[in-house]
Amino acid sequence: MLNPASYYRSIASRYDAFRQWGNSVASKVVKVGEISYGMKVLDIGCGTGNLISAVKNISGCNAYGIDLSLEMLDVAKKKIANGIFVKGNVGAIPFANCSFSCVIGAFFLHLVSRGDREIVVKECYRVLSRGRLLILSLSYKQIEKSIYSRFFPEIIGIEKNRRFSDIPEIENWLWNCGFIQVKSETIQDEPIKIDKQFFSSVKNKVISSLALISPQAFVRGLRRLRGFLDEKGDEERICDQSITLVYGEKQL
Ligand SMILES: C[S@@+](CC[C@H](N)C(=O)[O-])C[C@H]1O[C@@H](n2cnc3c(N)ncnc32)[C@H](O)[C@@H]1O
Repeated sequence: MLNPASYYRSIASRYDAFRQWGNSVASKVVKVGEISYGMKVLDIGCGTGNLISAVKNISGCNAYGIDLSLEMLDVAKKKIANGIFVKGNVGAIPFANCSFSCVIGAFFLHLVSRGDREIVVKECYRVLSRGRLLILSLSYKQIEKSIYSRFFPEIIGIEKNRRFSDIPEIENWLWNCGFIQVKSETIQDEPIKIDKQFFSSVKNKVISSLALISPQAFVRGLRRLRGFLDEKGDEERICDQSITLVYGEKQL
């Protein structure tokens, strides 16, 4: 398993150049989370604060974030001057009971060891007063169809067997921890342009699964991607990406 602290330390300065949340995802989070002006919202595994910053821009909420990586948090602090960003583990959230009206988190759960994931959901329940928990992740189908899997098929097995939990399992943890009205929805993320910048992001291993495949598999995938770009010339190459939002509500 990847060591998140050292991996994210190594890519913190490059992360934002390649990974941003589009307006469609942030708007959906604001709507489903019923996030409004002045509301206290915690982003767990916030990284460089991309999601909470987009959510704050739309809603005017008060932004909080926790993450293991100081280097990722430093970027977040610069992005949201009046946000509160704290180094911490999602398995023991460093905030008091009932502190927040909404908790959000994107693409962090697969980095927590499997046995601890339900504990993370329990922690989210504890720090919520009443309101919703929203988790963004990938279903196993979405992993199979991802643009990264197309060029690097070796990551499919790694993501499914060693990292991601499928959506029904995440939903179960929410039910088990006391959340009600647990649901999941597919969201269309902004399309990805397959171009030189995409090639560069892949070369820089901005998604952590690329750091887990063998060097040979990585080189093979880069070659496939290079070939694809050469074949298509300057033609516009767009790839649709879908992700899944799992959410539930805490009522007192
Ligand atoms: C793929 S990044 C996602 C960052 C951000 N949520 C986003 O959507 O851009 C995963 C983040 O989760 C953090 N992380 C991983 N395990 C964690 C843990 N146990 N506690 C807190 N943060 C963690 C990493 O440091 C990293 O910043």
